[in-house]
Amino acid sequence: MAAVDLKGRDFLKLMDYTPEEIEYLIDLAAKLKDEKKKGIPHRHLEGKNIAIIFEKTSTRTRCAFEVAGHDLGMGVTYLDPSGSQIGKKESIADTARVLSRMFDGIEYRGFEQTIVEELAKYSDVPVWNGLTNEFHPTQMIADMLTIKEHLGKLKGVKLTYMGDARYNEGNSLMIVCAKLGMNFCACTSKDYFPSNELVEYAKKTAAETGATITLTEDVNEGTKDADVIYTDVWVSMGEPDEVWAERINKLMPYQVNKKAMENAKESAIFMHCLPAFHDLKTTIGKEVHDKFGLDEIEVTDEVFESEQSVVFDEAENRMHTIKAIMLATMK
Ligand code: CP
Ligand code: NVA
Repeated sequence: MAAVDLKGRDFLKLMDYTPEEIEYLIDLAAKLKDEKKKGIPHRHLEGKNIAIIFEKTSTRTRCAFEVAGHDLGMGVTYLDPSGSQIGKKESIADTARVLSRMFDGIEYRGFEQTIVEELAKYSDVPVWNGLTNEFHPTQMIADMLTIKEHLGKLKGVKLTYMGDARYNEGNSLMIVCAKLGMNFCACTSKDYFPSNELVEYAKKTAAETGATITLTEDVNEGTKDADVIYTDVWVSMGEPDEVWAERINKLMPYQVNKKAMENAKESAIFMHCLPAFHDLKTTIGKEVHDKFGLDEIEVTDEVFESEQSVVFDEAENRMHTIKAIMLATMK
């Protein structure tokens, strides 16, 4: 493993990290995963405490921080979307200064990226972004570990993202691919491409790493020979229900289905950060079905349940990679 020192660093977005630092975190996660599987204890942060703040709901990220924290020997305090003063009665700056006096690290999931950046500015301890509207960086380390495990490499891998590419997942995947020399393709309606500013940053980075950044509305071109087909929900947390009609109208051609997978490489894998709408077993899935007549939304059940789908490996890897991020950044 390369000599990388991340002690005391925040983890807010991958633009703040070099390719070597990102690779270091992926390798450290693989090591910790191996130790966990072999039952080798790694309570390297015994006696420390972390606070995990969620202003939006979560299954994976919350559980990953809690289990990883406990595996490292730490105490973990969960603050739910309604259970603290944050934002409502107390500013982000004041909250940061209070929590820094009690905790050794702080996770934050919420709305604008500027909020987590502000929290980090006023905190004396590392702050980790557990998802904002713009970025989901902890998810990226898990995704890269998953790709490496299944395809044996990252450099040169063609990752095609279908669906809403201008939100946290699409943005973050474009950046991580640019950093790691991968071929990123946003295959969607031009209304859902990442912002020009972010694309410009990604292309500049790509020029240094050998990555490529492609934006296309053509499904055939976008999915052709892809190694990874990736999607996410079309309506994200915090967005109003009224946007569903427009999303379904614009994004249905970019649903991940058998045809899209067949146009990719035979060895291609399907990825999704989860949660996913692939059947009628959820409240929102049923509501969308009753209103728009769809049985499945961003991905068909056939693809989700297929051999090519690695979504549960990806979910498990959230825990191993969040553990690596905490271990690497905590003092
Ligand atoms: N992928 C992800 O962040 O899932 P949660 O919303 O359940 O944390
Ligand atoms: N884009 C999704 C990701 C969930 C992990 C959301 O923000 O709701």
